[in-house]
Amino acid sequence: MTHFPEDLQALRTVRDLVRWGASEFLRAGLVFGHGTDNALDEAFHLVLWRLRLPLDLPAVYLEANLADSERRAVVELLNARVQTRKPAAYLTGEAWFCGLAFEVNEHVLIPRSPIGEMIGDEFRPWLATPPRRILDLCSGSGCIGIACALVFPEAQIDLAEIDQRALAVIERNVRRHGVADRVSVAAGDLFAPLHGQRYDLIVSNPPYVPLAEWAALAAEYQHEPRLALEAGDDGMDVVARILSEATAYLEDEGTLVCEIGGSQDEFDARFPKFPGAWPEFAHGGDGVFAISRKDLQAWLGTQSPRKKGKK
Ligand SMILES: C[S@@+](CC[C@H](N)C(=O)[O-])C[C@H]1O[C@@H](n2cnc3c(N)ncnc32)[C@H](O)[C@@H]1O
Repeated sequence: MTHFPEDLQALRTVRDLVRWGASEFLRAGLVFGHGTDNALDEAFHLVLWRLRLPLDLPAVYLEANLADSERRAVVELLNARVQTRKPAAYLTGEAWFCGLAFEVNEHVLIPRSPIGEMIGDEFRPWLATPPRRILDLCSGSGCIGIACALVFPEAQIDLAEIDQRALAVIERNVRRHGVADRVSVAAGDLFAPLHGQRYDLIVSNPPYVPLAEWAALAAEYQHEPRLALEAGDDGMDVVARILSEATAYLEDEGTLVCEIGGSQDEFDARFPKFPGAWPEFAHGGDGVFAISRKDLQAWLGTQSPRKKGKK
């Protein structure tokens, strides 16, 4: 049930509502990290979205008086954020990645991968030439593959995802961004639906959160699909399969780019002496490796059969 402040009339302006929302968020101990990292930015984003105003609203309009119906609509949305603990993007149905708007719902992870920065940089210096064929493995909303399609207008892109409900979101995002002529969507378990395909670039943000860590995540993250986050005791179950299977799907000069986020210790323990490069990010984030097919093949040759596959 919506809790309207007794003195709702005192919240006259856009600025008043942003300030009130941020205070409520902090009072409730909300956790941020799905597009914003603090209460004021989160409230600002939600207030402007509800009022259908642009995020680059000139400051003078922050002082605009609101109609009573607008005030109530905004307070309802801010209350929903507090009461449901859903990340803002699930309340608005939209998230931004690489400067592009993507439809999201609770069947897909909210886009936030630092790989977005690599896409903006056209994967330099990790790719010598623009890739002709790209695979976005574990695509979720399709954000990585679709952003790649727009950055590399000559490339053919495959998006692979196991969750049928996520696939429906991907299809809509592919249409939304007008790239259906160059983007194919494959349903299935990792590489299974891609038999015989070869790529210049395989890029993946797979699930990599250790089970115990996933269970302890804040309520906001529990709204995201477990399949998108949790990947076994050390979080490396899906990553291990990608490492052992990727060479069969990479061109000789191909490159694998894969995110493992904050699971660096688990990665190092499971895959010792891994020769990949770890890009640094100017806009935040870490835990992404890039490795050529040749280096991956050579490293796999040094691994015992037990280490190549599952634990
Ligand atoms: C961390 S999310 C990443 C989503 C998206 N690429 C992004 O960066 O926002 C991982 C995705 O992998 C999918 N997934 C998990 N296991 C998979 C598997 N075995 N095969 C294919 N997709 C899988 C999940 O359903 C989820 O959509």
